[in-house]
Amino acid sequence: MKKAVEVAPDSWMPGGVPDPLIAAKHGHIGRPVSRIDGPLKAKGAARFAAEFRLDGMVYAALSYSTIAKGRIADINIAAAQAAPGVVLVMTHCNAPRLNPPPKFLSQNKAAGGDDLPVMQDERIHWNGQPVALVLAETQEEADHAISLIEVAYAAEPAATSLSEAIGKGTETGSFMGEPLHNEIGNADKAFADAAFTVDSVYRSPRHNHNAMEPHAATIVWEGDRLIIHDATQAVAHTAWSMAQIFDLDETDVHVTSPYVGGGFGGKTLWQHQILAAAAARLSGRPVRIALSREGVYRIIGGRSETEQRVALGSDRYGKLTALIHSGITPKSPNSALPEPFIVPTRSAYAVDNMTLDVQVCTLDMMANTFMRAPGEAVGTFALESAMDELAEKLGIDPIELRARNEPDKDPVGGVPFSSRNIVEAYRSGAERFGWDMRNAAPGSRREGEWLIGMGCATATYPYYRMPGAAARITLSDNGRATVDFAAHEMGMGTSTVQTQVTADRLGLPLDKVTVRYGDSTLPGVILAGGSQQTAAIGMAVMSAYNGLVGELLKLAGNDSPLAGLKPDEVVGINGGLAHRNKPERFENYASILTRANRHELVADGTPPMPFELQHWSMHSYGAMFCEIRVNAITGEPRVSRFLGSFDCGKILNPKTAASQFRGGIIMGIGLALTEETQFDERNGRIVNPSLADYHIPVHLDVPEIEIMWTDIPDPHTPMGAHGVGEIGITGTGAAIANAVYNATGKRVRDLPITLDKLFR
Ligand code: MOS
Repeated sequence: MKKAVEVAPDSWMPGGVPDPLIAAKHGHIGRPVSRIDGPLKAKGAARFAAEFRLDGMVYAALSYSTIAKGRIADINIAAAQAAPGVVLVMTHCNAPRLNPPPKFLSQNKAAGGDDLPVMQDERIHWNGQPVALVLAETQEEADHAISLIEVAYAAEPAATSLSEAIGKGTETGSFMGEPLHNEIGNADKAFADAAFTVDSVYRSPRHNHNAMEPHAATIVWEGDRLIIHDATQAVAHTAWSMAQIFDLDETDVHVTSPYVGGGFGGKTLWQHQILAAAAARLSGRPVRIALSREGVYRIIGGRSETEQRVALGSDRYGKLTALIHSGITPKSPNSALPEPFIVPTRSAYAVDNMTLDVQVCTLDMMANTFMRAPGEAVGTFALESAMDELAEKLGIDPIELRARNEPDKDPVGGVPFSSRNIVEAYRSGAERFGWDMRNAAPGSRREGEWLIGMGCATATYPYYRMPGAAARITLSDNGRATVDFAAHEMGMGTSTVQTQVTADRLGLPLDKVTVRYGDSTLPGVILAGGSQQTAAIGMAVMSAYNGLVGELLKLAGNDSPLAGLKPDEVVGINGGLAHRNKPERFENYASILTRANRHELVADGTPPMPFELQHWSMHSYGAMFCEIRVNAITGEPRVSRFLGSFDCGKILNPKTAASQFRGGIIMGIGLALTEETQFDERNGRIVNPSLADYHIPVHLDVPEIEIMWTDIPDPHTPMGAHGVGEIGITGTGAAIANAVYNATGKRVRDLPITLDKLFR
């Protein structure tokens, strides 16, 4: 990889030049096009995973272990089997033999949250593990029957206490194949020598996934073909992984996921799809499994707690001389991901001495997984709180402190930034927000019972473009185009934005372009994760388009006004191709195809490897501004204003992007003020598995959120765009904590910032 990178400036890009769409002025890109799937969803006509109705379908319910470790000594299923409507009771005694799931990131198409065997023996690995599944004619009958199952456990000592687990030893974590450890210079020495220092420990609790649509799948076997209507961020990964588990050919597994009610990292492959497919095979009936909200907490991974030290040293002008960001997080023995909280710090500030380190200990618990900017969400809380603390110590405005430490190249990787305008995001955001009205002295602004404060923090999330994407464009002689890719619409606007992009690429109106997605039989392996879909699909469509243009020019031949032109001399415009600079040399698609006696033309595109990620340091950025009111009597914190000023390349659709940013910020409000999974350290049980007890922000918790952006395109990405999915939750926690400090003089370093921590 390294060698290839040295010789690859931008030549990875077709033509070696920035995407021509970046310069295009009058297209669909940049317009606030409403979601094309909006009317279907409003009418209830969009079918989600638990809404497929199949002939003879039965309903599943699960029983969950109540111990963290040990074995099933005895399981009594007689009453369940005799209950009305019951079709099957499945336990480890009668479940079919299955291969363990391929663990996420272990191979290209692996989708499993862990690689534990699924209902293959009497062993228990976490409190909440499925121990029995019932199929019945109705959901109510399944739910009743599952309640009749009696399990006797032989419990064994389990690691469920964080402090005890740390005592048993830790090891350096790894993320995306790289150790979570970086060292440049000598941070300890520079910290000891620094004129000004801050050194604190920050804590973030466990978080659980709470997509509006709980996990669900409708599953049927047609002979040896397995068909899964799933709610997933990874159709192709899931098809391949299920094939491994059930010893099938990959092409014999068909996964569809046309609509998903939110994913956020949690909608990959977990035990429910595997168990339901196994039960469908045993019973010979199609199965619908729809997890209860509690079920999601029991068997879908979440975010683990972190304990992070951030130590900063600077000179008297605020120039950082030392940065230490280190700490501890637990994971389960078989999971793929420790919470990688140092990742945002790698590219944050210019500093010659830096030590970053994530130590991981092991707990007997549900696998940790990707969740809403894993790493960045809680890592930026610690780092950006510490920057605020340093700014106060130095008596420098927190925005100015950040500007003074703005790096001109990636501090860890040493490579240049592809596009980074974070200072501009701060400048314009501060102006709009009225930052100059902030009084730096904490507790200095009060209206009646309410103390009012302002805080800011930097948001950042990496730009990814994962290998494996592909797309197919089918152009018809009626002037319509269809574009196919195995990607996902989870509510973000992917199908709308890709319709805009494809229409601009081809020079077609929006209503002449159909985007098909959410199906494993379509081309490519595209994860709706890492905020990378827009770039991954965009580059795949660009590749398919380039192939299509080559074929069209061949078909056009010598009798066309396009005769003799090369692919990079033409553009898609007005329903056909034209010379880039001489628009009169034009022929429309229908004419080219008709003259060549073709009804349609199909072009497949596979994008080049993402070498840009080695050549540049690539990220989305934002400057987050919060105004908070804290009640001086009760300690109640209320976010009263919030503004996100983003630098995420070119914004392709202002309406869907603003919604993405707002959604992320609302999650950030939850992270800062309300969300906390209560994990009973005595037995490893999650004790608040419901929306009544796990508090996500509701309407009254969310003020008007202003969104703005620089709209400066990155010349090194497709369409000049960066991801906008996850960045909203980053920086938000610190902006709120910093505002709380400004309002009250209380520095809360332990999330969530609940009123008991502010009560005087
Ligand atoms: Mo995101 S946590 O990569 O779905």
